[in-house]
Amino acid sequence: MLRINSLGVKFGSATILSDVSFQVSEKNCVSIIGANGAGKTTLLKTISGIVSNPTGTIEFQGENITGKRPDEIVKRGIAHCPEGRRVFPAMSVRENLELGGLVNRAETPRLIKEVCELFPRLGERIDQLAGTMSGGEQQMLAIARALMSSPKIVMFDEPSLGLAPNIVEEVGHIILDLKARGNTILLVEQNAFMAMSISDYTYVLENGEIKRHGPSAELLKDDYIRQAYLGI
Ligand SMILES: Nc1ncnc2c1ncn2[C@@H]1O[C@H](COP(=O)(O)OP(=O)(O)O)[C@@H](O)[C@H]1O
Ligand SMILES: [Mg+2]
Repeated sequence: MLRINSLGVKFGSATILSDVSFQVSEKNCVSIIGANGAGKTTLLKTISGIVSNPTGTIEFQGENITGKRPDEIVKRGIAHCPEGRRVFPAMSVRENLELGGLVNRAETPRLIKEVCELFPRLGERIDQLAGTMSGGEQQMLAIARALMSSPKIVMFDEPSLGLAPNIVEEVGHIILDLKARGNTILLVEQNAFMAMSISDYTYVLENGEIKRHGPSAELLKDDYIRQAYLGI
C-alpha cells in the first residue's frame, strides 16, 4: 500500500535520512523504532509532504506521491497523528475534530459521532477546551482528529511519549483496534517494546538509516535489539 524507495532528506549540509526503503502492506501494522534524533519525525513529515524535496520516491496505492502538498496527501487517505499530541488547546474537542474533518466537510457530523463511539470520553467532553484535558485524553483527541479524514493509513509519531504506563497500554489497544477495523498503521516509536508488541513487522532506524528489519516477534528475540533497545 505504502512503498518508500531509497528516501533521502538533507537539512542544509546535514543528512537526516539516507537510502530509507520500506513498505507497509494493506491492513498491516508496521513499526519503525529508533532513538531520539534517529529521524523518525522527519520521515513521517516527509511522507506527509511537510518536509519537501526529498530524494527517492514515496508511492501510495501504486501512485507516486513524492512532492505532493500535505492537503493532497491527506485527501488520498494518509493521516498523520503528530508527535507531542498537538491539539489546539484553546479550542474545544468538537472544534479540534472539525479541523481534522476539513477534507470532507459533508461527512463531519457522522464522523464526529463515529469517533465519539470509539472514544466515549471525548463524547463526554465534546465542549471542553482541549488544553484542559489530561495528557492521555489529549492523545485520544489527537488520534480521533487524525481519524476524521477517513484515512486508509494512519501514521503515529510516538503516541506513547510522556504518558503513564497504563495509558500507553490503552493507546496500544486503540491502535490494535484500528487495525482490527481494517485500517493500515505506520507507527514510529522510541518505545521499542510497545511498538514491537503491537506491530506485525518492524524496521530499526539508526542515524537516518534502516539498520535491521524483520517480523516484530522475531526482532523481540534478537540479541542486538534486546541489548540496544530493550535493555535486557
Ligand atoms: N527543521 C530542521 N532543521 C535542521 N535539522 C533538523 C530539523 N528537524 C530535525 N532536524 C534534525 O534531524 C535529526 C532527526 O530529527 P527527528 O526526525 O526529529 O528525529 P526523531 O523523531 O527520531 O527524534 C536530528 O538530528 C534533528 O536535530
Ligand atoms: Mg520525533
